[in-house]
Amino acid sequence: MESVVERYLARIESGCLPLGAGVVADYIPELARVDPDRFAVSLVVHDGHIYSVGDSDTQFTIQSISKALTYALALRECGVDVVDATIGVEPSGEAFNEISVDHSTRRPRNPMINAGALTAAALLIRPETMPTAPTTRQEWAPHLDAAFARILDFYSGCAGRQLSMDAAVYRSEMATGSRNRAIAYMLQSFGVFPPHPQATVDLYVRQCSVRVTSDDLAVIGSTFANGGVNPRTGRRMVDGQIARRVLSVMTTCGMYDGAGDWVTSVGLPAKSGVGGGILAVLPGQLGIGVFSPRLDEHGNSVRGVRACRLLSEDLGLHMF
Ligand code: DON
Repeated sequence: MESVVERYLARIESGCLPLGAGVVADYIPELARVDPDRFAVSLVVHDGHIYSVGDSDTQFTIQSISKALTYALALRECGVDVVDATIGVEPSGEAFNEISVDHSTRRPRNPMINAGALTAAALLIRPETMPTAPTTRQEWAPHLDAAFARILDFYSGCAGRQLSMDAAVYRSEMATGSRNRAIAYMLQSFGVFPPHPQATVDLYVRQCSVRVTSDDLAVIGSTFANGGVNPRTGRRMVDGQIARRVLSVMTTCGMYDGAGDWVTSVGLPAKSGVGGGILAVLPGQLGIGVFSPRLDEHGNSVRGVRACRLLSEDLGLHMF
């Protein structure tokens, strides 16, 4: 029988479906092949129960939502001091793919824009654990494979099921991603990271190509809402301090140059991806996953933003 929450989510769906604005990302050619009209909302409450409406079992690529997860894993593996010495926590007010570095600190401004996300991925390749640091892209390759295996394991633990990579989207971004290569070489010139820039881009593009559903995003959100413990599996993925740090940076930087508008109107930590996903969190209570592929000018899902806004207004979720 349909629950009251599901009936409410069906109302959210009818409030969002008429919105026809926005365009599907096509700068990664494979992303242009998705059905632009797909729509799903999922909620995971504190006991781990999932409520969803729409295409909640449709898989799409996680894209930039991965940045929050890789940042969490870098904090877990390398510690806050190493990560803070390498990546800032200040909102940049810039587009996600800006060729950007803070000239005074020589660090990327935050882990949610591509420059900071590439750097977080580079930290996971961990050259300091190797007897001699590799030099060529080929020599870095096995370390990259090992780092991606840890990333996939971490994302899967947060989602509570085994996730996998969409190889077609991965190949499509690798074939066209000059902007990320430019950012990686620029960062290397600033001495930000030692691994080979191409290996770093490869790892980052793999993480962006991990397939999720809106249910997965909501479970991942609930893991962070729950202080780092997945409420469905009971598995601790990060400690409470790291969960708090990641949610703080999502609040200020997760929606890029749309962050100010988002925080004032929706008031929840969130992270968007050009695959059309949005992950939002009400700390202590709720994980939210939304999917709709048409994007606004910031690269955020148009209907996804509307759905979160409606949820926040109707249920009084705004944190302030
Ligand atoms: O690096 C890129 O351009 C993509 N793999 C991810 C960008 C993204 O999702 C931005 N978010 N809305």
